[in-house]
Amino acid sequence: MSQPNMNTLKVAMPKGRIYKQASKLFREAGLPIPSDFDDTRKLVIELPEMDMEFIMAKPVDVPTYVEYGVADIGIVGKDVLMEENKDVFELLDLGIAKCRMSVIGLPDWAPSIHPRVATKYPNVASQYFREQGQQVEVIKLNGSIELAPLIGLADRIVDMVETGQTLRENGLVEMETIFGITSRLIANRVSYRMKNAKIQNLCDLLHAAITVQRG
Ligand code: PRP
Repeated sequence: MSQPNMNTLKVAMPKGRIYKQASKLFREAGLPIPSDFDDTRKLVIELPEMDMEFIMAKPVDVPTYVEYGVADIGIVGKDVLMEENKDVFELLDLGIAKCRMSVIGLPDWAPSIHPRVATKYPNVASQYFREQGQQVEVIKLNGSIELAPLIGLADRIVDMVETGQTLRENGLVEMETIFGITSRLIANRVSYRMKNAKIQNLCDLLHAAITVQRG
C-alpha cells in the first residue's frame, strides 16, 4: 500500500448514517470510492488513486479533527457545527442528510415553574431559550433523548427530527423548529490556503454533482 504524501488530502468522514449519503455524493462527483468501504471497520482508509485519505470519525468529532488540522477537510452536520462552534471554514452545503433541530414535548405540555430541557445539544438549546427570553435548566444526555419527557426527567427536549418516526412512536410532538440541518463540507484554515487548488477542485466537483441532483 502506498504511503500518503504531504499533499494527500485528509478527509474526516462521519461514520454512520451520513457516510452512505456522503460516499454516494462523492461517487456522483466522479470520485471512485470502492463500494466495500461502506461497511468497513477500518478507521484510516487510503485512496491513492484520488490522492486522498479518509479518517472515519464519530460525527461529533469531525470539527475537532479539522480544527486541529489532522484532517484538512471534513463532512459534518450543521447540528454538530452549531453545537461545537469550532474554528473551521464552512465551504459548501452538501444538501445531504436533511433533517431539522426542534423543540419537542408531550401534546399536553404546559409551562412549568422550573422548566427542564434535555438534549444532546446543550449549547444550541441554551442559546435558543436565552434568545426566547425563557429561563430553563438544560440537561445533557447522550442519546434516546425522547425518553426524557416520557419518564419525567424534562418537560421538553431539543433534538433532531428526520422522518418524525421516533416522535410518532413515542407520542411526542414538535413544538418549534429551531433550524434546518444538512451536511456541510468544512476545511481547516491553514489547509485551505496550503492545499487550496485541491480543495477548490473537490468543491467544484461536489457542487456540480449537487446541482445535477437538484435538477
Ligand atoms: C436521532 C435523533 C432522534 C432520531 C430522529 O437519534 O436524536 O432520536 O434520530 O430520527 P427520526 O425523526 O427519523 O425518527 P439517533 O438515531 O441518532 O440515536 P440516539 O437516540 O442514540 O441519539
